[in-house]
Amino acid sequence: MIISGKEVANSIKALLSEEVAGLKEKYGRNPKLAVILVGDDPASAKYVHNKELACERVGIENLTFRLPAQATVDQVLSRVEALNSDPSVDGILVQLPLPGHICESHVIAAISPDKDVDGLSPANVARLWTERAAGLPGLNSAAPAFPVPCTPAGCMRLLSEAGVDPDGKNAVVLGRSNIVGLPVAKLLLNAGATVTVCHSHTKNLAEITSKADILVAAIGKPHFVTADMVKSGAAVIDVGINVDPVTGVLCGDVDFDAVAAKAGAITPVPGGVGPMTIAMLLENTVGCFLRRGPARSTA
Ligand code: GUN
Repeated sequence: MIISGKEVANSIKALLSEEVAGLKEKYGRNPKLAVILVGDDPASAKYVHNKELACERVGIENLTFRLPAQATVDQVLSRVEALNSDPSVDGILVQLPLPGHICESHVIAAISPDKDVDGLSPANVARLWTERAAGLPGLNSAAPAFPVPCTPAGCMRLLSEAGVDPDGKNAVVLGRSNIVGLPVAKLLLNAGATVTVCHSHTKNLAEITSKADILVAAIGKPHFVTADMVKSGAAVIDVGINVDPVTGVLCGDVDFDAVAAKAGAITPVPGGVGPMTIAMLLENTVGCFLRRGPARSTA
């Protein structure tokens, strides 16, 4: 079974459009997302453009602040602080990666946790790691108590859409980044899976991955996960966004055709996790709007 993130994301966006229209009627304003883009990395510019289109589609107001690649950390921090104190802004996203001279953790820590639609600020990371039920689909997905990082939330939603319940299963996560590997591992733990996180220093990788009922690949290496590494019937979630070095075509971390023949469920690239990241961002923005108290936050 191929899990279409594109279709799932489209149905989430259709529901969100209705919800946002209802919010506008009830509170007199639409949720508003502010995005900060520093520099001119083409991939980041494309992500930000896709976010703008998605916001327009569901009725979320969108402001993008573009700063030059040589912007100083103080300039970025002032922009974050201005948005923190702007009552009309519900969500703030700083597009990553930032240019090398800007300390990402410093900037992320400056985002108000109430507006942190990426769920990456220290307060929200702490909540994810200390609250057992955090981010479980079906429990609090409509308006969770705090924002959960978008790509990991999207992976969990895709598993749930495919009818895969992680409870009691072996889950293996490839990659230990703050943005995907670590939070998705915690969400899988919260959902009752026994989780192994593998990375570049892991020995006997294929032996570990071939025991996985759920395999999440987030390492950024084209076609890295081959069929011999996958258990028959496993659910495989491919977070990779790579360019095939031979064909120049967009591809994931998974050798799709061979693995699809063996897996029980698999996400494609493109059209899998990518659209879900944006759908979760929209949900998180609406969640921030609702938690902030929309009636009070009108500018
Ligand atoms: N760059 C790639 N993915 C993401 C994401 O989910 N959030 C942010 N802020 N930057 C990214």
